[in-house]
Amino acid sequence: MKKRKLIYQVYPTAIGSLRDIADKIPLIAKLQPDYIWLSPIFLSPWVDGGYDVSDYCKIDPRFGNMSDFNKLIAVAKKYQIGVLLDLVINHTSTEHSWFKKSERYDHWYKDYYVWLNKPINWDSFFGGPAFEYDQIRGKYYLHLYDKAQPDLNFANPRVVREFRQIIKFWTERGVAGFRVDSANILAEKSLKAGILPRVSGFFNYYQTKETVAILEKLLSSNKIFTIAEPIGGEFLSRARFRELTRKAFDASFNIGTLDVADTFFSIKDKFYPVNYRKWFRKLAKWSQEEKFSLALESHDTPRAPSRFGADPKVLAMLQFLLPSNFPCIYQGQELGTKNAKLSNNINDYPGVQSRMVYRRLRREGRTRVQAMKQVKISSRDNARQPIDWGEYILQEKDEKSVLNFYRKLTDMWRNDPVLINGALKVKKASQKGIFEFYRIYGNEKYYIHLDLRDKTISYCKNTKGTILVSSR
Ligand code: GLC
Repeated sequence: MKKRKLIYQVYPTAIGSLRDIADKIPLIAKLQPDYIWLSPIFLSPWVDGGYDVSDYCKIDPRFGNMSDFNKLIAVAKKYQIGVLLDLVINHTSTEHSWFKKSERYDHWYKDYYVWLNKPINWDSFFGGPAFEYDQIRGKYYLHLYDKAQPDLNFANPRVVREFRQIIKFWTERGVAGFRVDSANILAEKSLKAGILPRVSGFFNYYQTKETVAILEKLLSSNKIFTIAEPIGGEFLSRARFRELTRKAFDASFNIGTLDVADTFFSIKDKFYPVNYRKWFRKLAKWSQEEKFSLALESHDTPRAPSRFGADPKVLAMLQFLLPSNFPCIYQGQELGTKNAKLSNNINDYPGVQSRMVYRRLRREGRTRVQAMKQVKISSRDNARQPIDWGEYILQEKDEKSVLNFYRKLTDMWRNDPVLINGALKVKKASQKGIFEFYRIYGNEKYYIHLDLRDKTISYCKNTKGTILVSSR
């Protein structure tokens, strides 16, 4: 498999049905992505925006049907783009028939989930206890996310077999691979060990050798492309990252490299100013990891220009001028989209995370106004708004637009030998937001000056002094 891939993430409700997405492929294709990753399109009661699946082999009617899906695959293929689906593997929805049967102690399904007679004191990522009492079974089940998302028991070979079937089902329908949700928290071994993890130890604990082995068996085929989403990024050491990506995954994110508050987890959703020096050093280190996927945005984060307070063009240069084998663009990022103007009423928020943050802040004594202020900057719903296609067309016509800047950079990323092969050498990583580095290949040496505070022009020039790209 070719080593470098550009991925474009689509959060489907922000575009519409599968047909709407297919219609937009010609526009998206101008960024030359190898893959389009679709966040979940499976049947779901939509408690967590599709990440609560009630049937992995059915398409949610809000997106259309299998024939629309086939058309989407065909259009993508015409543009030489593969479609990646989102494999939500750690948990299902409580509405899934496996759970319904497991609750009823059905012989085949009784151990599909993690059931305990007595709960232990773990917290879920969405706040509150990670165990819920189930009236029907008379036991507690584990849910690392919302209580409507029970954790599957990967120690059960039947569960692994189910996913083998699901992978087969979709690859037979032309899917090029998968993004694997919460890939490092599948093993619940720590339950048996009786360990009550402290929050920070918790993330590292989860990725066990057994989990990696299960994933390797499931996913290491050369015929599919796989990218992992390990959670708890800041705690993900490079050793763990390498172990996870050794065979099972072609690439993996590590959101911890962004060095801003992880707005997702209940434990750490406070914003703090970027420590530029630390951040740049971390990026330089991680970007040299062969399988590292540098993503500045996703459906789980607010928009990058708002989050970093930076010019979208400078962010684009950061993403595409560093060594970057698997960069991932989140839909709308290429327009420089900022955070949405969200409502002041918490009941208008569809996402579980926003409501969780709100509840916690209120519990901690914040006023309604203070809590809403925080929700508005940290909400995942900021990045889940409909794409403004009118704006897209306007930007297409404007030579100096962020969109055309992105297209130029993705073109350079794809074709420029120095960006493809060049070694990285950091010249300056300053607390004032200046990041200067070289990309060196053969006799050619690019010098890159980035100013995240936009006080000076950001640019990249070659050995002869020719400016190849600049922010203004
Ligand atoms: C992943 C998804 C996120 C979801 C969570 C639970 O982290 O990216 O959106 O809420 O898993 O499935």
